Amino acid sequence: MSINLLAIESSCDDTSASVLIDGCIRSNVIASQKVHSKHGGVVPELAGRAHLKKIITVTEEALTRAMISKESVDAIAFTSGPGLIGSLMVGSSFAKSMALALKVPLISVDHMQAHVLSNFINDPKPSFPFLCLTVSGGHTQIVLVKDYLEMELIGETKDDAAGEAFDKTANLLKLPYPGGPMIDELARIGNPRAFEFPEPRVAGLHFSFSGLKTSIRYFLIENLNKNPNFIEESINDICASVQHRIVSILMRKLEKAARQYNIKEIAIAGGVSSNSGLRQAATELSEINGWTLHIPPVEYCTDNAAMIAMTAYYKFLAGDFETLSAVPSARIEWKSS
Ligand code: KG4
Ligand code: ZN
Repeated sequence: MSINLLAIESSCDDTSASVLIDGCIRSNVIASQKVHSKHGGVVPELAGRAHLKKIITVTEEALTRAMISKESVDAIAFTSGPGLIGSLMVGSSFAKSMALALKVPLISVDHMQAHVLSNFINDPKPSFPFLCLTVSGGHTQIVLVKDYLEMELIGETKDDAAGEAFDKTANLLKLPYPGGPMIDELARIGNPRAFEFPEPRVAGLHFSFSGLKTSIRYFLIENLNKNPNFIEESINDICASVQHRIVSILMRKLEKAARQYNIKEIAIAGGVSSNSGLRQAATELSEINGWTLHIPPVEYCTDNAAMIAMTAYYKFLAGDFETLSAVPSARIEWKSS
């Protein structure tokens, strides 16, 4: 029997729908909200409204590109959290009403688990157990992945996420939101050793990025006092140096986790995993340590419904369905070890 799944992702500022047929992604439509760029961050109320505007057309487009009708969908998946509650409510209500109308089961998917499983969309797929460094705008985690749906959180940030460190730095540099892609771009021709930013001391496999943000703020104040054009004149070097520090913080803990758990199967995931500096550093570390490295294509790093569909596929096979009374949760349910 062929399995056709439709998945909806609406946890933050991307409205996305994807169709998966027999374990393969057939479409992945993403409408990214532009309305937040001038506000320096995602405005929850605007995000919810923008999802409402886009969700029907994005879903229709996903079905059209996959060349199936909604009547041939076997189950509908949605992101249950973590995320912005208003945004999650739009996706979950839409998925529930479609499931009710089509008389098909519902599958709820944890957004962070889905980021991890984005590594299964393309070949070669990771083998178990593996470690995944998941780096996004709201989370920074090291996850021990024992099976498709069996994951243990072994490290996480104590304050800001890695994506937040990029976005807040961009804000200080007067760059638009989201700052990560722009810092990545500007860093390409900068010197990563031009400026030295401190590396925090955090116990175990955990992270901290709030001190870095503060040190960048004071660094900019000090240099702008000496030269009001400092940012314009040094933007490439500043971006390259900040990126270098964020990446080195992430890589140090990933290497520590790999040693501690004696695992050489390594994956990265989440919006920040599209960063060219991070991809390069992870590749170099893999060569040094003999890791087998998995990095999703950029399209599956930032928020997308294909990763929700992929996770839903494994939940469908496991018979793990959701009821119509499911309530999305804005917070992550996992606990750190
Ligand atoms: O996974 P994601 O799309 O959404 C969340 O689940 O949060 O991640 C978004 C984050 C933002 O902080 C954005 O600035 C960052 O990913 N990001 C990047 C790059 N592309 C997206 N950070 C650094 N370099 C990039 N190329
Ligand atoms: Zn995400």
